[in-house]
Amino acid sequence: MKPDLFSKFDPLIAEREALAATGVRDPFGIVMDEIKSPTVAIIRGKETILVGTYNYMGMTFDPDVIEAAKTALDEFGTGTNGSRVLNGTYKDHHDVEEALKEFYGTKHAMVFSTGYQANLGFVSAIAGRGDYIILDADSHASIYDGCAMGNAEVVRFRHNNVEDLDKRLGRIPAEAHKLVILEGVYSMVGDIAPLVEMVAVAKKHGAMIMSDEAHSMGFYGPNGRGVYEELGLEDDIDFVVGTFSKSVGTVGGFVVSNHPKFEVLRFVSRPYIFTASLPPSVVAAAAASIRKLRFAHNKRAHLWENTRAVHAGLREMGYTLGTETPQSAIIAVMLPDQQQAVVTWEALLNAGVYVNVARPPATPNGMFLLRCSLSAEHTPEQIKAILAAFKAAGQASGAIS
Ligand SMILES: Cc1ncc(COP(=O)(O)O)c(C=O)c1O
Repeated sequence: MKPDLFSKFDPLIAEREALAATGVRDPFGIVMDEIKSPTVAIIRGKETILVGTYNYMGMTFDPDVIEAAKTALDEFGTGTNGSRVLNGTYKDHHDVEEALKEFYGTKHAMVFSTGYQANLGFVSAIAGRGDYIILDADSHASIYDGCAMGNAEVVRFRHNNVEDLDKRLGRIPAEAHKLVILEGVYSMVGDIAPLVEMVAVAKKHGAMIMSDEAHSMGFYGPNGRGVYEELGLEDDIDFVVGTFSKSVGTVGGFVVSNHPKFEVLRFVSRPYIFTASLPPSVVAAAAASIRKLRFAHNKRAHLWENTRAVHAGLREMGYTLGTETPQSAIIAVMLPDQQQAVVTWEALLNAGVYVNVARPPATPNGMFLLRCSLSAEHTPEQIKAILAAFKAAGQASGAIS
């Protein structure tokens, strides 16, 4: 074929063809034919336990959340057809921002159409020409894309490395405006940030701080606000970013803050302005879910129990995990190459357990991962079945002996 704009993708096309030729199923082409509950789906006719969905608190089938969505659907229709700053703000968009303010105890909350867009829209707008963004090297793609979209100088520091953050902040002109971007939980291997030390360093250099708490909402901190709340940093973090696509159980993203000028962002953030707002049923569901999450103490406790059980079980079997101890509801099983990752993944699926495959460039240090995310709704029987499947799959693929 004559070279054209697609030629740059030839190595990826060849890699995917080589994988298909081995006869294994495509981990990036799974279709959920039926969803039975927050933890069970039918995939190709087989009942499958879901261990890779970020449905941490199992809110997707909560009766109050479903009821709220149905009521909004009946009363307001399927979509808004417009931007938040024109015709796309309905009463439920206001209400979900109120629910967020209650949940986080902040004065302001701004909802975007996804968590990806929240990072894109906030990061690109807040730091402009002459400003500095200092971010962890393992930051989520949406944070990097927000940096790429904006005009600020971007400085990376080594993942979770407090000294490197200090060193790099020290090289930036003292008078420049700076934003340090951290994540409570890093989603690839499920490790948490040393936020106390990082915040102290950022403050020393006069930087503002944003923490993306996408993977800690609901189950970290006394009110489920995130790792920053657990560590007593509520007065120190200037902006918290989050998503509705994980613990909340629907779709959408947000930033909350106490900054007195925060509301101006609605008029300067392009990914907020130049896109349609979320359907009313989605924001109504999110509001109902957020209001329940705050008081979901039992779910929180159960999620941690499940996480500890799976982490300990996998370690005992001889798997190498992303973290020594369970730090979040993400447990990453590290495998040496794509072949072993995909073969183990397929054996798990055949045994009725679905996990995520993660590979470079999404993963740091060229790692191939089988990523598990636990749910508060996994039953003790499901936890047993998950561990049994990992044992058999790992032995069959040679990942464990
Ligand atoms: C840390 C982090 N931030 C933001 C997002 C984006 O969230 P959403 O799925 O709502 O676009 C994700 C999603 O995986 C994430 O892991």
